[in-house]
Amino acid sequence: MSSELRSRVLDEFCRRFGGNPSFFARAPGRVNLIGDHTDYNDGFVLPMAIDREVCIAGRARDDRRVSVYSIDFDEDATFALDGGSPRQADGSWVEYLRGVAWALDDGGRPTSGWEGVVAGNVPVGAGLSSSAALELATARVFSAVNGVVWQPVSMARLAQRAENEWVGVNCGIMDQLISAAGTSGHALLIDCRTLETRAVAIPESVAVVVLDTGTRRGLVDSEYNERRAQCEEAAALFGVPALRDVDMLTFAERAGELDPVTRKRARHVVTENARTLEAASQLEERNLARVGALMDESHVSLRDDFEVSRPELDAMVAIAREHDGCLGARMTGAGFGGCAVALVAREQAAEFVVRVGDRYKGTVGLQPSIYVCSASAGASVEASGDC
Ligand code: GLA
Repeated sequence: MSSELRSRVLDEFCRRFGGNPSFFARAPGRVNLIGDHTDYNDGFVLPMAIDREVCIAGRARDDRRVSVYSIDFDEDATFALDGGSPRQADGSWVEYLRGVAWALDDGGRPTSGWEGVVAGNVPVGAGLSSSAALELATARVFSAVNGVVWQPVSMARLAQRAENEWVGVNCGIMDQLISAAGTSGHALLIDCRTLETRAVAIPESVAVVVLDTGTRRGLVDSEYNERRAQCEEAAALFGVPALRDVDMLTFAERAGELDPVTRKRARHVVTENARTLEAASQLEERNLARVGALMDESHVSLRDDFEVSRPELDAMVAIAREHDGCLGARMTGAGFGGCAVALVAREQAAEFVVRVGDRYKGTVGLQPSIYVCSASAGASVEASGDC
């Protein structure tokens, strides 16, 4: 847990509520190494939880109310645990907490009241899953105050339901599952149909570098939903439940039956699933050059076939690849803005960060944020310190 975040939420808790909190809960953001727009096609993804997180200092209450202060938004909010029904929330931070409370309650899980202070260092809207981190940190608090054993997969599912039905964003399972179940030092190969996971070690010799283009997603929800619909249409044409069930050979044989746009969307998903499975195996084999090449191919596919990149992401990826230490780079997450990710030889990573940052700023004219990330553990809870 970030000690800086922990002392901020502790100090603020002591000031606002008086007395010690009982626990700290935290949940990380994520970066996806490969496998984008595959999760809602029942396919494969290879994300890792990052060392940026949401942290909550909390304490149980006697009543059925939740009272929370957000340091980042300088706002407090209180709501009753009365069930309620899903509605289109306004997207404010507290709706993620309310949504999780609703999903837990609706899923027959115990909920009881608590008070707390929340803060995070996952940049919001950058495509690093700050909302999943907030949802899973909240779920972790509810588990703690109700004395429930942490079940990462069920909690990820409930958090996804909160996001889909309460917040109204139609995302897949990747972000919530990696935030719930990440393993320190590892990426996680997730089968988004069975929700089975395989931890894949990130070798010491490479650094995972997040490259935030400084652009933010616009229109992402409508574009995202449109892509989902196109994928469903393609699966129906192949006569299968999801594009996960179409292999490269079947795709090649029948691609001519699809209209050009649907064909491109389906080609991305079918090839991305294959790349993701291969990347996980090659990472295990320490064949980093091949992993990098698969990341490069993934970017091209997201750019040309799935059409979810944008010029700043393409520029960042191109600049990253020019560096000697770069093994591969791609946009990451939903797209339309936000971040790229690169795999870089560790001994060249510090220099890579400076050089790529300067070049990007010089050519694109935006200030990027570039940082080396380490793979951290999924949501956790620990006893709090004293005021
Ligand atoms: C967003 C969604 C995920 C996933 C990615 C694209 O992050 O929340 O479920 O679909 O986009 O891979």
